Amino acid sequence: MSNEASERMKQGADRSARLAGQHPGGPGRAVVWMAAITALGGLLFGYDTGVVSGALLFLKDDFPHITALQKELVTSLLLVGAAIGAIGAARLADRIGRRPTILITAVVFVVGVLLAAFTPSYGVLLVARVIIGLAVGSASMTVPMFIGEAAPPRTRGALVSLNQLAITSGILVSYLVDYGLAGSKDWRLMFGLATIPAVLLFAGMLTQKESPAWLVAHGREDDARQVLARLRPADAVDDELDSMKEGARRQDVSARELLSPRLRGVLILGVMLAVFQQVTGINTVIYYAPTLLASAGLGSSAALLANVVNGVVNVGMTIVAIWLLDRVGRRKLLITGTCGMAVALTTLALTFLIGGSTLTGAGAYVAIVALFFYTGSFAIGLGPVFWLLISEIYPVRVRASAMSVATFANWAANFVVTVSFLTLLSAITNAGTFFLFAFLTLVAVVYFWRRVPETKGKRLEDITAQVEGSKVAGQAVR
Ligand code: BGC
Repeated sequence: MSNEASERMKQGADRSARLAGQHPGGPGRAVVWMAAITALGGLLFGYDTGVVSGALLFLKDDFPHITALQKELVTSLLLVGAAIGAIGAARLADRIGRRPTILITAVVFVVGVLLAAFTPSYGVLLVARVIIGLAVGSASMTVPMFIGEAAPPRTRGALVSLNQLAITSGILVSYLVDYGLAGSKDWRLMFGLATIPAVLLFAGMLTQKESPAWLVAHGREDDARQVLARLRPADAVDDELDSMKEGARRQDVSARELLSPRLRGVLILGVMLAVFQQVTGINTVIYYAPTLLASAGLGSSAALLANVVNGVVNVGMTIVAIWLLDRVGRRKLLITGTCGMAVALTTLALTFLIGGSTLTGAGAYVAIVALFFYTGSFAIGLGPVFWLLISEIYPVRVRASAMSVATFANWAANFVVTVSFLTLLSAITNAGTFFLFAFLTLVAVVYFWRRVPETKGKRLEDITAQVEGSKVAGQAVR
C-alpha cells in the first residue's frame, strides 16, 4: 500500500475514532447513540402511561358494561406493576447486568402491549396492564442507571436526561395518537403501537455493550476497558478505569448495608426526591388535564388542544433543562423549577377560589397559563433532576437496589396521588386541592435547599464519597 493510501486510511480511522466517542469537546457519537437507544425505554414509559387517557374513552365499545371503577383499574394497575417491576429489575440488574435486564424489559413490553391490543376480555386487559407496568417500572430505573454509568461526567446530566426527554415525548406522542385514532375509536391500536419502540429498544440494545461500572464491580476489568475504549478518548480510558476500580473497592458494600447509618441518609434523600416528585401533583395534570380543563370551562376539543400544548411545553422545557443541567448544575434548576411550580399552583388555587370550580373568561385563561407554567417548571427541575440524581448518588454495588427503592417510592406515591385526586377534588374542592399541592411544593423547596448536593461535572465515584462523607441527612453538600 502506498504511503499516501495508508495516510488516508489513518486519517479515516482517526476520524471514525473521533466520531466513535472521542471528541474532546463532547461525549462523542458512540455515547450519545448509546443514550439515545437506551432512552427508548423512557419513550415506552411515557407512551404507556399517557396513552390510556384516550383509550379509556372507547373501551365501552368492546366492554359495554365497564364501570368507572373498572376504568380506574385499567389506569392504575400499571402503576402497581411498575412499583413491583422496579424492585424486580434491581435484582436482575445486579446479578446478570444492566444490558440483559433492559433486553428482558423490552421483551416484557412487547408481550404486555400485544396482550393489551389483542385482549379477548376485560380481565386479560388488566393482566396486560400489570405486565406493561412491570416493564415500565424496570425501564424507569434501569435506563437512567445504564446511561449514567456509561456517560462522561461533563455531559452526564444531559445524557441521562435524554431519558426524561423520551418520557415527555412518549407522553406527547400518545396524546397525538389518541387524538388521531379518536375517529376510528381504535383503542387496541392505541395500545398496540407501543410494539414499535419496544422492538427497536430490543434491537438497539443488542448493539450495545454492558455498563463499564457494572463490569468493574464484577471483576471484569478487561471487558470494561474495551467498553470504555468505545466511549472515551484513548487517553482517558486508564484514568477512568482506575477511578472505577478505586470506587468499587472503596464502596464494597452489600445491599443489606443500605440501612446502615453510613448509607441511610442518602437512601432517604432518594426516597424523598421520589415522593416529592409525585406529591407535588405532576400526574394529576398529565393524566387529568383534559378533565380539569373541561371542568374549568373549556369545551372538550379546546381542552384536548390545550392538553397537547401542555405536552409540547413539557417536551420543550425538558430540552432547555438538558441544555442547562451540566452548565448551571442540578441544585439551581431543581430549586428554581420547584419554586415555579409553587407559584403556578398557588395561582391555580387562587383562580379557583375566586372564580369557583367552573371558570369563565379571564379566570379560565389564567388557569390555563398557570397550568403551562406549572408543567414547564416541573420539566426544568423536578422532572429530569429526580431521575438524574438517583442515578448519581449511590455506590455502584448498591446502586441498583437503592435506585429501586427510590423508584418504588416514586410509583407508589404516583399511585396514591392518582387514585385519590378525583376524590380530593370533590372533598376539598379544586382550590383546596391545589393549595394542598402548593403547600407540599413549598415543603419540597425547603428540603431540597437543605439536603440536595450538587453533582455537576463530578465522577460518580467522587459523588458517593462526598455524599457519604458529609452525611446528607445532616447537612447539604453544595
Ligand atoms: C415522572 C412521571 C411523569 C413525567 C411527566 C417523570 O419524571 O416520573 O411520573 O409523568 O415525568 O413528564
